[in-house]
Amino acid sequence: MRHQKILVLDFGGQYNQLIARRVRELNVYSELRPSELSVEEIKRLDPIGIILTGGPSSVYEKNAPYLAKDVLALGIPVLGICYGCQLITVLLGGEVGRAERSEFGKTQLTVHAESPLFDGIPKKSVCWMSHTDRIRTLPDGFTALASTDGCPVAAYGDEEKSIYGVQFHPEVVHTEYGGQVLKNFLRICGARGDWTMHGFVEESVLSLKERLGTGRVLSAMSGGVDSAVAAALVHRAIGERLTCVFVDHGLHRKGEPEEVMRVFRDELHMNLIRVDARELFLNALRGVTDPEEKRRIIGRLFIEVFERQARAIGSVDYLVQGTIYPDVVESGRGKSAVIKSHHNVGGLPDVIDFKELVEPLRDLFKDEVRRVGTELGLEERIVWRQPCPGPALAIRIMGEVTEEKLEIVREADAIFTEELMRAGLEKDVWQYFAVLTDSKTVGVQGDARTYENVIALRAVTSVDAMTADWARIPYEVLERVSVRITGEVRHANRVVYDITSKPPATIEWE
Ligand code: XMP
Repeated sequence: MRHQKILVLDFGGQYNQLIARRVRELNVYSELRPSELSVEEIKRLDPIGIILTGGPSSVYEKNAPYLAKDVLALGIPVLGICYGCQLITVLLGGEVGRAERSEFGKTQLTVHAESPLFDGIPKKSVCWMSHTDRIRTLPDGFTALASTDGCPVAAYGDEEKSIYGVQFHPEVVHTEYGGQVLKNFLRICGARGDWTMHGFVEESVLSLKERLGTGRVLSAMSGGVDSAVAAALVHRAIGERLTCVFVDHGLHRKGEPEEVMRVFRDELHMNLIRVDARELFLNALRGVTDPEEKRRIIGRLFIEVFERQARAIGSVDYLVQGTIYPDVVESGRGKSAVIKSHHNVGGLPDVIDFKELVEPLRDLFKDEVRRVGTELGLEERIVWRQPCPGPALAIRIMGEVTEEKLEIVREADAIFTEELMRAGLEKDVWQYFAVLTDSKTVGVQGDARTYENVIALRAVTSVDAMTADWARIPYEVLERVSVRITGEVRHANRVVYDITSKPPATIEWE
């Protein structure tokens, strides 16, 4: 089935993926594409509406990202956000200039005029601003719709052409009626709301059945949400013709391998093979302290083990991968510096002999993957599992990885998870985990001196893991975690909380 589509043209702003996600939450399929898309390409994509995102540039800067002017003459409704709004202004003959003062953060918005874009929105509300330029004169045919103190034109529109601009960010939660602005724009576009996860599952199952025919299908199960949901979806379509391989490298979080086997083999009756490679990985990691070296070893061994297993299974026609939309978007962007060489199953296609790659989740955002998981009947515990890097606990132990250290970080991590879940915070935090530092400190326990390990707790909020902020976990929760870790985990006598954002730090410690 062809879904109605909103095209989000990316001008480099930090909330751009969020815009596409918000639109999808309103049941309209939406795709993020580079801003330099040609008019022909846009026509071919046949969107019902176009959103121009914000971005770090100023419209008059040399080499500032541009938009083909013809896009605004296609008769397709357009909403420009921040930079997008300024771009519409100059493209249609208006003027943009430096604001007398920049506005950052929560700002009061006053709506002046009746407009379908502000339907159901009170005259005064709070919006989120982040700009240094502002609209000075409007293009012909446009009317100012709203203002803030520092920005006389905070929203405008040409109702006849259905072209609108907002200087604020409707996609961020701090804009009180941001969701309503987007909803109104979708209504202006004539959206039917035909994008639901229930529909997605039904359509995917049908098309997977058709595509995979009677072929043999192989999947690598990592324990993470994406590979689990991808496998469950394919399993729903073709049942036992899917074989899943779970490489147990001994670096998983507490109870993870057992849970994977219980849920997918015992309850869902999937054809799931667990390969015990714990010794192999530990031996290879002995004496290795460099983070990148650890990643390389784990990535290489993972592929070797999987390859051997695949050969034992015999010829396969299709390989399933849990690629999700942000991976697709990221890989479409230019090359950025390698901060960490991420290991996931991305290396597999090169070494396994198969006819085609199957990526049933490549159109979905993480939150949609979770909703698909729920549609497929997977438990909350699996669906809301914390993302974990491919090398797992190996890069949450500073320095050499040993069995003893794995035990310490595994227990501490399990306590942190338990307490965050008990406090109901797990869905508010993007990622959280414990790290075993390579520091030892002096402590006193039971009137005796101890000289033991420092555990660091890391919890961050983020939109897409590209940037992150440390999560403001309530002190009482941190206190409980600290008391429990120092009381229950052997060889840990101190707990610290990481209060660094990304940048300058990264989310993981290695
Ligand atoms: P950083 O630490 O780079 O992490 O801020 C960003 C996100 O990526 C995850 N991560 C990894 N994922 N292999 C992976 O598959 C890796 O080597 C790896 N390193 C970091 C990290 O957990 C976070 O979600």
